[in-house]
Amino acid sequence: MKAAIYPGSFDPVTYGHLDIIKRASAIFDELTVSVLNNKTKTPLFSVEERVKMLEEATADLPNVTIDSFSGLLVDYAARKDIHVAVRGLRAITDFEYELQIAQTNRKFSEGKLDTVFLTTSLEYAYLSSTTVKEIASFNGDISECVPDFVGRMIYEKYGYKR
Ligand code: PNS
Repeated sequence: MKAAIYPGSFDPVTYGHLDIIKRASAIFDELTVSVLNNKTKTPLFSVEERVKMLEEATADLPNVTIDSFSGLLVDYAARKDIHVAVRGLRAITDFEYELQIAQTNRKFSEGKLDTVFLTTSLEYAYLSSTTVKEIASFNGDISECVPDFVGRMIYEKYGYKR
């Protein structure tokens, strides 16, 4: 049984994340998508809201479980006895940051946590949660970026009714 964790902020989940989740769930027997509870960031959505959004968006994928974690990914992965982290790479600009995280995780897990990168489908290469929030904050159209129910929740946060 090969299991993996896909960690992230998911604030909010986008079609880019969902593309990675779908493809990773086809590669691994079990995929745990886990929302980082990061006390140093001020997210738009609470961890509970992000978990709920992910649960709804992945309801059709039986081997995907949604969870959340605080602290170091290596400690969380060790508690769950999972040895692979999945991350998406959109462009070369992601690479340096992701390489550093992957190498740090491998070092601090004493080789027990490796990272597998999936390259994002080209149609989603431009997408990030940050740009989606920026567009929505000006009441722009995010229908091609996130599922409709996620879009409604974002507009609601910014006080728009659509
Ligand atoms: O979606 P994001 O914000 O790019 O995800 C970043 C994430 C959650 C993968 C990364 O920040 C993380 O794993 N944080 C947990 C703390 C940790 O383990 N840090 C050490 C690696 S530098």
